[in-house]
Amino acid sequence: MHFTTILTTAFLAIISGALAAPLAQSGSGSSSSNYFPSVTEIGWCLIPWNVDDCVKAQGHADIAAKAAQNLFPANTLHNGKGDAFRHCYWNARMTIDLGADNAKSIGDNHEDGSDGPEEEKRMDRANNASGRNIGASAGSYASAQEACRVAAVNGKLVTLK
Ligand SMILES: *[C@@H]1O[C@H](CO)[C@@H](O)[C@H](O)[C@H]1NC(C)=O
Repeated sequence: MHFTTILTTAFLAIISGALAAPLAQSGSGSSSSNYFPSVTEIGWCLIPWNVDDCVKAQGHADIAAKAAQNLFPANTLHNGKGDAFRHCYWNARMTIDLGADNAKSIGDNHEDGSDGPEEEKRMDRANNASGRNIGASAGSYASAQEACRVAAVNGKLVTLK
């Protein structure tokens, strides 16, 4: 790929991520801070060898968000079980696709620039870690989804309400 193509791809991925974020969450009443790319993340995504992983991470985020909407009541999608499930499944998918190390560094990078409440970050971090563990042992996206769903329903993931 040409360098300009890579930059354009990265840029489009970021813009579509930013646009998709509020849509994916509309009606849930939750903040979009988990989705909106931070400045650090935009910088990271613009580095050519990170672009592919960045695009994939966004795809996994979208799929996890839709699964959360389908499986959990809307009022649990922020700080509740649906939110916990979403982070679990998102990170499980990234672990399956990109490996636990990459999943973690993408997450940490996003995190560096975000400024949500500390307790919400703690919740997300814990559920992300559970998702990476589930992803590391799951044989498929479907089994990872089910494992995260069961963990959330049974109170095995962290929630704030
Ligand atoms: C949770 O994981 C996602 C996806 O890797 C990441 O974007 C987010 O920053 C992580 N949250 C925390 C608090 O680490």
